Amino acid sequence: MPEQDTPKTQQSASGAKISRLGDLLPFMRPYSGLLFAAAVALVLTAGLSLTLPIAVRRVIDNFSNSETGLLDTYFAAALGIAGLLAIGTALRYMLVTKLGERVVADIRKEVFARVIDMSPSFYENLRTGEVLSRITTDTTLVLTVIGSSVSIALRNALIFIGGLFFMLLTSAKLTSLVLLIVPLVLVPILTLGRKVRRLSKENQDWIAAGSAQASEALGAVQTIQAFTHEVETKNDFSKTTEDSFLSARERIRARALMTFIVIFLVFSGIIGVLWIGAHDVSAGKLSAGTLVQFVIYSVMVGGSVAALSEVWGELQRAAGATDRLAELLKAEDSISDPSTATPPPNLGRGRLTFENVIFNYPSRPKYSALDDVSFDVKPGQTVAIVGPSGAGKTTIIQLLLRFYDPQGGSILLDGFDLRDMRREDFRKAISLVPQDPVIFANSVLENIRFGRQDASDAEVISAANLAAAHQFISELPEGYETYVGERGVMLSGGQKQRIAIARAILRDAPVLLLDEATSALDSESERAVQKAVDALAQDRTTIVIAHRLATVKKADCILVMDHGKVVAQGTHESLMKEGELYARLARLQFVSDAEEAAA
Ligand SMILES: Nc1ncnc2c1ncn2[C@@H]1O[C@H](COP(=O)(O)OP(=O)(O)O)[C@@H](O)[C@H]1O
Ligand SMILES: [Mg+2]
Repeated sequence: MPEQDTPKTQQSASGAKISRLGDLLPFMRPYSGLLFAAAVALVLTAGLSLTLPIAVRRVIDNFSNSETGLLDTYFAAALGIAGLLAIGTALRYMLVTKLGERVVADIRKEVFARVIDMSPSFYENLRTGEVLSRITTDTTLVLTVIGSSVSIALRNALIFIGGLFFMLLTSAKLTSLVLLIVPLVLVPILTLGRKVRRLSKENQDWIAAGSAQASEALGAVQTIQAFTHEVETKNDFSKTTEDSFLSARERIRARALMTFIVIFLVFSGIIGVLWIGAHDVSAGKLSAGTLVQFVIYSVMVGGSVAALSEVWGELQRAAGATDRLAELLKAEDSISDPSTATPPPNLGRGRLTFENVIFNYPSRPKYSALDDVSFDVKPGQTVAIVGPSGAGKTTIIQLLLRFYDPQGGSILLDGFDLRDMRREDFRKAISLVPQDPVIFANSVLENIRFGRQDASDAEVISAANLAAAHQFISELPEGYETYVGERGVMLSGGQKQRIAIARAILRDAPVLLLDEATSALDSESERAVQKAVDALAQDRTTIVIAHRLATVKKADCILVMDHGKVVAQGTHESLMKEGELYARLARLQFVSDAEEAAA
């Protein structure tokens, strides 16, 4: 298990500014109609609730000189307002929530589309679980903001301003007394608010760290159990989760304190002012109805301040979430396609050239993974790459797919530099059987069809036949329709390898890359697959990272690699004569058919 991750907050303690929510605007633009309708409903309901206290005052002040007709009219009007208020509020809820769900769905899709395009070096610094947490938890936070917090904040801001205005109209004297409290209220909002903001970012980071840990552990559940590492793994996860809880608790405390101070200050201020107002009423300076109207307005204004301070924290949490999402959305890939996309050249022949390629992995800048590597593979040729583990064989294949760019030299396909083509275009000309075959949680049929989406069932089956996979697939409980489980847990290593080979056969591309593709096979199926691979390699350019003498011998050219360098190249015969490393590898590492037969 990796070391306990410290959340990123430590590095960026400043947290996100509320203005980061502005990054959400581009996502709302397509729904400006919905936004506008929601705003209208919002202003309407806020306006209506502000008229209610006036109706109340009229009613109260008209009690004594009772004109029953007028009284009835007022009550009817109040009922009408209540009805409009109900409609407006329901409408606002519906529009705003729908907007939130819509926008968040768009953000999720866009973030996913963005990260799925990223080249591998992006994931060397960011764990996939972390990305998942951003796509799920952080977008959920954004949802609460668009779906409720923002509209709560806006409505309360409107009520605050409007209520204050009507308070002034009702009684300028009492209002100016109330306003004296405002600076007092702002202090805790500003100071505690900053703390809440920092803590919520920290909390969110802990959640992300936890989900990264969990996804890694779940992906390696068998290894964890085999090494009886369950207790440690559980402890690691519970520590992260507890840390997350602790920072959440601190956040909650700070916010509770803030809420307490704000509400207490607001309402005790109002009570004080009312006390003065009540004296004015008994002295006959103010009508009872006016005082009641003032009371209702000040409760509305006080309530709106409290609601704002509460929602403020939500907005800040969401600003942090937006920040993390924006980080993914704005992430620059270290590799990009040329802006002037050259029309896809005719990549039919499959000539591969490495010209003085120098490369180190971004995460290991000092270590030369490839050191001045040059070779040329003519169309249709088969080149075997041999060398001890760690020599840089797989690296060559990664560069051929342009997962990374070399620091020096160039890599050409049919004479075109890979960097001058769109990756999508030249990757279509390449078919890969990776060192660790990847199987998706789907049926066998679909797993093979992954090689070429438009292949018919019959084509899939014939590819499986060529890959010596048809036999075992037919024996699976539901044949080609058998679901193979996540990462193909229901298949053996050799079976997975044969499915990967069938997939490559189906792809039928001019360039074939095989990374120790038959290493997990028993000798019988290996021979069967080898025949298929030989047939496949016949009329296309093939680079095979090989460990079997039979494969190596048949190659048109053999590259011997060691420590990132091509130390020798030639045919089996020439290398046996002069290549020291090759002779040793041939003796010790290559599995020859003769040895196998003896075993
Ligand atoms: N993503 C990576 N980041 C940093 N170093 C890597 C990465 N992948 C491979 N390496 C290093 O590059 C060297 C060559 O690796 P590789 O090409 O996979 O060797 P092999 O010849 O066994 O296929 C090794 O020393 C390995 O540790
Ligand atoms: Mg390798």
